[in-house]
Amino acid sequence: MRRLRRTPALRRLTAEMSVQPADLVLPMFVAEGLSEPRAISSMPGVVQHTLDSLVKAATEAVEAGVGGVMLFGIPTNKDAVGSGADDPDGILNSGLSRLKFELGDATVLMADLCLDEFTDHGHCGVLAVDGSVDNDATLQRYAEMALAQAEAGADLLGTSGMMDGQVGVVRRALDQVHRSEVGVLGYAPKYASAFYGPFREAVSSSLTGDRFSYQQDPARGVTEALAEMALDVAEGADIVMVKPALPYLDILSEIARVSPVPVAAYQVSGEYAMLEAAAERGWIDRVRAIDETLLSIKRAGASMILTYWAVEVANRSA
Ligand code: PBG
Repeated sequence: MRRLRRTPALRRLTAEMSVQPADLVLPMFVAEGLSEPRAISSMPGVVQHTLDSLVKAATEAVEAGVGGVMLFGIPTNKDAVGSGADDPDGILNSGLSRLKFELGDATVLMADLCLDEFTDHGHCGVLAVDGSVDNDATLQRYAEMALAQAEAGADLLGTSGMMDGQVGVVRRALDQVHRSEVGVLGYAPKYASAFYGPFREAVSSSLTGDRFSYQQDPARGVTEALAEMALDVAEGADIVMVKPALPYLDILSEIARVSPVPVAAYQVSGEYAMLEAAAERGWIDRVRAIDETLLSIKRAGASMILTYWAVEVANRSA
């Protein structure tokens, strides 16, 4: 077995996996009311952007050959129904419009379609009187968000809220206004994960509880994951995404085996933070570890990967 491992040239010839810049999607944050970018302490190297710095960083990502960007918005004012989410002048929609104006079709512009950044309670939906997250009232808000994001120029809407029926509601809302060209990136399966921890700082989240009543339990298995995927596909998802990535490679590999649509994986904030932290202490070879995680995610079957390292990795492979 060692014969083909002997030289770098033999290893290169026999390699079966590679990560291409175009496979990578950069998640980005834009915050309202900033005069300069603000560092996110739990995600060294990642910032909340101003509108101007967002355009500059997204342009650099496109120049590096990255396949797309996924935008999250952080408003200054939050309320119970997340009014900022579908306000055309709200920070997320303003950011999308700016990026579409500056970049046109040079990249794939994706928008996070969820209320958690915009609600004062931090949940992904609106609340019923008993404090639970109201599925169907939330769907109404998602439909409104979808129209605003389509209007702002998003190519793909990332339905990350884990409400039942969200993909169908978004698809129908778009079709009704003749925006059938706008696609849906379905977050299915998506687990209630501790690995979203640093993201909560990244989006200045107000959440106090948890999301176990709508996101999937890590103790469930592949059957539920396949059911989530099948529903999203039946409702019109153009791409499905497994999230987080590294702790769910078993799920990813099953989804990739059977999905009739392309499969993405989201290497989330905690996956980024733990590796950066270990590297900072000199406990791990940072570059090799990053590349190894991305190869693992590719090997498990993802055809695209959302990663905060997208630009660095794209530039390195160029
Ligand atoms: C919901 C959303 C979250 C992430 C992406 N979309 C947070 C959550 O579900 O709690 C997490 C991404 C990351 O951790 O990098 N809008």
